[in-house]
This record gives sequence, C-alpha cells and structure tokens, in this order.
Amino acid sequence: MPYPSSEALTAATLSFQDSTPYAEQFGDVYHSNEGGLAQARHVFLSGNDLPGRWQGRAEFSMLETGFGLGLNFLATWQAWRADPLRCRRLHYTSIEKYPFHAADLAQLHARWPELDAFSVQLRAQWPALTAGAHRLLLDEGQVELTLVLGDVADCLPRLDLRCAAFYLDGFAPAKNPGMWAPPVLSHLHKLALPGATLATFSAAGPVRQALRQAGFVCKRRPGFGSKWHMLAARFSPEEALAQSLRSVTNG
Ligand SMILES: C[S@@+](CC[C@H](N)C(=O)[O-])C[C@H]1O[C@@H](n2cnc3c(N)ncnc32)[C@H](O)[C@@H]1O
Repeated sequence: MPYPSSEALTAATLSFQDSTPYAEQFGDVYHSNEGGLAQARHVFLSGNDLPGRWQGRAEFSMLETGFGLGLNFLATWQAWRADPLRCRRLHYTSIEKYPFHAADLAQLHARWPELDAFSVQLRAQWPALTAGAHRLLLDEGQVELTLVLGDVADCLPRLDLRCAAFYLDGFAPAKNPGMWAPPVLSHLHKLALPGATLATFSAAGPVRQALRQAGFVCKRRPGFGSKWHMLAARFSPEEALAQSLRSVTNG
C-alpha cells in the first residue's frame, strides 16, 4: 500500500449546527441530531449484525469510509470490549480526507463520558495529519486501527485487504456525491470477503444500484430516529447480478 507520507492534509474545522458537529464545506452534519452514539449502534453495528458476527473468531476485519470524529470506531471498540465472546483481534481500517486535530476530538468526545477511556487511548496515539496509512495499536494490540488519510477515490483502490464488514459514512450522497460514485464503490468488490456485510444510513436508489453493481444485495431496514430507512447489505455477487438482470428485464 504505497502512499506519499509527508504530504500535509487540510484538517477539519470544528463547527456546529445547533449542537451537532457540522461540516461547513459539505453543508452537512457529522451524525444524526437525534443522537450520534445511538445512530452508530443502530445503523452501523446492528446493520452489520455486530457484535454477533465477530463472536468466536480469531480476527475480524472491517472498513469504514469517513472516520470523522471516530464515533463509529469508538462505539465498535466499546461493543467489542464489552463482549465476552469477542474475536481475539479487531482490525478496523478507516479512510478520511479531512481529519480532526486531537484537541478537537477531545472536545467532541467529551459529550460521551462512557467513551472516555477509549477516546484517551485513541488521542494518545493520534498521528500527524499527513497523507497515507497510520497504524495505531490499541487495547494492548488487540484492536488495530489503520487510519488511511486521503481521498477515498485514491485510497480505496490501493487497499490490500479482505473485510467482513463495511461502514459507509460519507455525508449525504446529495451533498458529497464523490464518496458514493459507482466507480468508487466498485472497489468494494475486491475488498469484500464472501458473505461480508455492509451498512449505511442512506437508502438512496443510486447508492443501492452502485452497491448492487459492486456485488452487494441490499435490504432496506428501519432507519435511525426520524429516518424511514437505512441499508443493510450482504456481499453475494451472483445474487446481485441476478437482481440486476431482473431489474433490466422488468424495465
Ligand atoms: C458523516 S462524516 C463521518 C462520521 C464518522 N463515521 C464518525 O463516526 O464520526 C463523513 C466523513 O467523510 C469525510 N469525507 C468526505 N469526503 C471524503 C472523501 N472524498 N474522501 C475521504 N473522506 C471524505 C468527511 O471529512 C467526514 O469526516
């Protein structure tokens, strides 16, 4: 995974809409204003049938697009730590183009005192904000976080991984279409283990179509808070192809 490692990145600017973290540049919030941690658990963990799917395994690898304030990561790590049947090692890779400075993460994470011990460990190893892959060994090395700093369109094709679960979290597709473009999502095909699962808060038609082309069979599930739907998907290229052919035949 060769990356330029000295190129400085533009850090995220901390701002809020009402009291929810907000990205001016994208005109969107970092998480639901009905609860960030509850959303992480409902959409991303439950949408991937976690913690159940990592139980009893030696290791479990997952990939996120959009690390943001790391709430999905912290929620996942916390659930893993609390699970007596957890896999021995958790590999979590996350891609982020505009990372926060550690001081901003501290301010953001202070809203969730139950995550404090995890946030402290994460911030103690928070890397310099330079492009490339930064590996953090947390929880005595049992949790490996690979932060890939750069644009998802450049980073996804360079990853050499096989993942059992995916979190797609790149702002609303209408506000950040580049993150959801079919050529970008097509790279998930080579990164997915058979039967891998995927979850995202967006159930938009073009996202479902791009995921189907990447080999995922999508199901709508009840969304978080006032959102009607979210997507939970399973990597099954033959089934996804059959679905695509049926939709062409049915016009
Ligand atoms: C909704 S936020 C993610 C929230 C995050 N998953 C969490 O748990 O806190 C979307 C993230 O995608 C990042 N992003 C937007 N466009 C990107 C791109 N082209 N490549 C990589 N990251 C991008 C943003 O900087 C932002 O941090």
